[in-house]
Amino acid sequence: MTDDELYIRCEDLFKIYKTSNLEVVALRGLDLKVRRSEFMAIVGASGSGKSTLMNILAGLDTPSAGRCFVGGEDLLAMSSSDMVRYRRKRVGFIWQQTGRNLVPYLDAVQNVEVPMVLDGVPASTARARAIELLEMVLLGHRLHHKPEMLSGGEQQRVSIAVALANNPPLLLADEPTGELDSVGADTVYDVFRALNRELGTTVIIVTHDPDIAARVDRVVAIRDGRTSTEIFRRVRFEGAQTEVVHEEYVLIDAAGRLQVPREFLDNLDIHDRARVLMGEGRIEVLPDGQSRVMGRER
Ligand SMILES: Nc1ncnc2c1ncn2[C@@H]1O[C@H](COP(=O)(O)OP(=O)(O)O)[C@@H](O)[C@H]1O
Ligand SMILES: [Mg+2]
Repeated sequence: MTDDELYIRCEDLFKIYKTSNLEVVALRGLDLKVRRSEFMAIVGASGSGKSTLMNILAGLDTPSAGRCFVGGEDLLAMSSSDMVRYRRKRVGFIWQQTGRNLVPYLDAVQNVEVPMVLDGVPASTARARAIELLEMVLLGHRLHHKPEMLSGGEQQRVSIAVALANNPPLLLADEPTGELDSVGADTVYDVFRALNRELGTTVIIVTHDPDIAARVDRVVAIRDGRTSTEIFRRVRFEGAQTEVVHEEYVLIDAAGRLQVPREFLDNLDIHDRARVLMGEGRIEVLPDGQSRVMGRER
């Protein structure tokens, strides 16, 4: 990935939440690169740091240490007025709770107009663009419905239109389909995909959906506040046949650290230390047999 193609670059990112008598390390040296116009997903167990990362990328929270650049802007060096502009113009955010994204007493068009009105867009321009955006998210027939008249999936699509109102180059969605049935979720994913293709918007979706790898270009897994593995979708050609395969990779950070999948370590009973040997075109990780035997003898 060249620097030109990169839209997001996080390196060695830390986030420590301090409460009166407790410190929680939510991100511990996280690295992440996202290409411009990429359509990707982030997965990980609850508490692994996904929302923390999304809030940082959205400019809603600041990292404790590390580096994080989005579209060439340094998120650790922004003034508070820069932050406000960044949140308003550079990123659109969709929350899991449908109710949190929308104003309940405004209809769909009015909800989409809100960010534009706040940004000083003239009313007639805002109205035309709101309708256009609602058509893009397949809600041209629901323009004057209030949120309570819409299904959960439709509300999330209005939320996507709201997030796009000021034409941000980046869309972030934190478990946007978490409260939807599978049909509602499917349409939401289709809409994200279409917007990514048509507008070139970079899209990052946090999700628990086990089938997500089939829907996006790349899935990055976060474990304990760090990116651990990555799944790519590749198309393989075999004669006239094409086959879509998903290949999983372990990520290596700038210091050469990688996380070996827990099952592999457990399988070979590897703890604390391992022997790493250079083999023929490969690196081998072996259990530390000798010291374990010695340890047992003592
Ligand atoms: N505002 C906060 N104050 C203290 N701890 C927090 C706060 N937000 C998140 N955490 C903690 O940080 C860790 C990561 O949380 P989060 O990013 O929400 O994980 P995820 O979205 O992957 O479930 C968790 O241990 C969580 O309890
Ligand atoms: Mg979360």
